[in-house]
Amino acid sequence: MPSLKDTIISSMVNGPDVLLDRMVGTRNGRDYAADRFKTRDIINKIHPQKLHLKVLEITNETSIAKTIRLISTNGYLPVFQAGQYINIFLEIDGIRTSRPYSISSSPKRSEEHTSELQKIPTGFVSDYFLDKVKVGDIFEANGPAGVFHYNPIFHKKKSVFLAGGSGITPFMSMTKEILESGADREIHLIYGSRDEDVTIFHNELANLAKNNSNFKYHLVLSEPNNKDCKCKTGFIDDKCIKELIGNVDEYTFYLCGPQIMTDFCMKGLNTLNVPHNHIRREVFGSRQDIQNEEGWPKEFTGNEIFKITVNDKVINAKASESILIALERANIRVNVCCRSGECSLCRIKLVGGKVFMPRGVALRLTDTKFGYIHSCKAYPISDIEIRL
Ligand code: FES
Repeated sequence: MPSLKDTIISSMVNGPDVLLDRMVGTRNGRDYAADRFKTRDIINKIHPQKLHLKVLEITNETSIAKTIRLISTNGYLPVFQAGQYINIFLEIDGIRTSRPYSISSSPKRSEEHTSELQKIPTGFVSDYFLDKVKVGDIFEANGPAGVFHYNPIFHKKKSVFLAGGSGITPFMSMTKEILESGADREIHLIYGSRDEDVTIFHNELANLAKNNSNFKYHLVLSEPNNKDCKCKTGFIDDKCIKELIGNVDEYTFYLCGPQIMTDFCMKGLNTLNVPHNHIRREVFGSRQDIQNEEGWPKEFTGNEIFKITVNDKVINAKASESILIALERANIRVNVCCRSGECSLCRIKLVGGKVFMPRGVALRLTDTKFGYIHSCKAYPISDIEIRL
């Protein structure tokens, strides 16, 4: 691949030729309108607006987690980067909703996506997936999307993956990609789990570590049920990280797991003075306990019910639930993908009233100026009026 310097020099040297070629092309009647449609075709292929995925196989990973293998009904799946997710739509009890699921397969396996599903408290969608989904079912989805992936320009060659529960999923894809490609990179995976029985991919990870000297697998169990287990016990705090990897300055850190675990790891990294630009954090969906989010107005318990006026309809919404969930409950459709405030597909206009939005929502300057919010990460704290 040419270096950035070579690319700049080449565009300076060849730029006039490219312009001349374009002028000649225009003079001779080149059909740019037709080219534009070709471009649209290519974009649709690389980044289709909708995918239709069929469940090919379901594997029990642990008592509370399954892997589902998905193929496209038209035989084509768009490329993705290790660490990205797909957003799967489904209808439960007449309510259409969706959830983003990280892809665990390697990007080199372009014919299928695999994803891990784990039971979580109050996770009515994950329960549905685990209990009801069967081979042959077809789902609508969008993506792949997400920015939780390795960036060779900004990230260090040495990586520390901090995973908890089903947060192992994107790391599985990243690890496979690096090891399969023989890339000159070093990985430490520190995986926090309750006990060995609920540790997803434990044997596969242990085998990968045995066969690849640049991949180190550290399992940290909070409640080990096997007294002979040689794993570390406790939680992934600053001492644990320091002991396992040594000098933190050499690494980029990637965090994925339940919010409570990533909050805890962030504290550890802050204690170790890891700069924020050396930390990448993935959080899926709205957090269950928004009342514990920094900046939440303490006068609200989260149980308050407010009215949302949307176009000519009025619906009820609970303060602790995102506006997106309230809209979905009322069967009002909004575009959606990440459910984490990142992709901006769920933007709506706040015409009146107040909402709470946690830090980290990727609003554009124009959104703020003209009153747009991301419905997946906005919580009503008064009666509000919105426009879709
Ligand atoms: S769905 Fe992506 S920002 Fe809301």
